[in-house]
Amino acid sequence: MYGEYLENPMIDLGCGDRDYIVRQIAHACHQYGFFQVINHGVSKETMEKMLQVSKEFFDLPVEEKMKLYSNDPTKTIRLSTSSNLQKEKIHNWRDYLRLHCHPLDKFTNEWPTNPTSFKEIVSNYCMEIRELGLKLEEAISERQHMAINYYPQCPEPELTYGLPAHTDPNTLTILLQDTQVTGLQLLKDGKWLSVKPFPNALVVNVGDQLQALSNSKYKSSWHRAVVNAHKARISIATFLCPSNDAVIKAPRELIEEEEEDSEAIYRDYTYAEYYTKFWSRNLDQGHCLELFKN
Ligand code: OGA
Ligand code: NI
Repeated sequence: MYGEYLENPMIDLGCGDRDYIVRQIAHACHQYGFFQVINHGVSKETMEKMLQVSKEFFDLPVEEKMKLYSNDPTKTIRLSTSSNLQKEKIHNWRDYLRLHCHPLDKFTNEWPTNPTSFKEIVSNYCMEIRELGLKLEEAISERQHMAINYYPQCPEPELTYGLPAHTDPNTLTILLQDTQVTGLQLLKDGKWLSVKPFPNALVVNVGDQLQALSNSKYKSSWHRAVVNAHKARISIATFLCPSNDAVIKAPRELIEEEEEDSEAIYRDYTYAEYYTKFWSRNLDQGHCLELFKN
């Protein structure tokens, strides 16, 4: 079910050689749109507690969790299931809690009070992961969302996915994976490769906006989550996003790097326009960015 493992680029952010780090990141963004980082500055304790409190949240009684249930993607916090219940034909094997988390003081008041440590632990995680996100993302990101994913054990994992093949609509995604259960796969040269959980590493992937901003130099790769017959799996995805009114437009220098007067691959658009389009479609309807081609 997991197929082959990705010989994944593992980038040591603590190696002290900034030029080397930058070259490795550029290479990984170009080749895979995916990489893992270690010595990234997010503490081991923060990561462990985040995974633990996420599990505790999903272990709460259904009635308790249902207080947060909604299928409205404009909500700043919502518990939901599958991917897009209204549009999809086959439902996926996933529950998720999606919450806005920057700036923290604007959103924490709507977060769950059960488990009691949720707010504190998740706030710490958001702050530490944002530091990393800003380090990784040169452009200043004004928004940050996250999805805490729970993939229950699945009696027939061959019949469904936790999350079917998709690309992420945001700029950059940082994923904290379950330390025990493999599930994330990415498509590379027509093959699905599993991204092995590696102790204390975080998975980073390029989203659609970075592909557009780089005029497709950097790839927003297809990826998916498979489920496991014996174990539930948790993952925490942090999505760095442009602000809603940001106009996404690749710089002229980049477009003309190879040939003068070439045209940008994508037309200019606002992130709000993209995000609305993304959520109005089903994940299996192809790369959303195709719809923004010039
Ligand atoms: C996502 C995602 C993968 C995973 O939430 O966008 O791709 O392993 N998650 O849960
Ligand atoms: Ni994703």
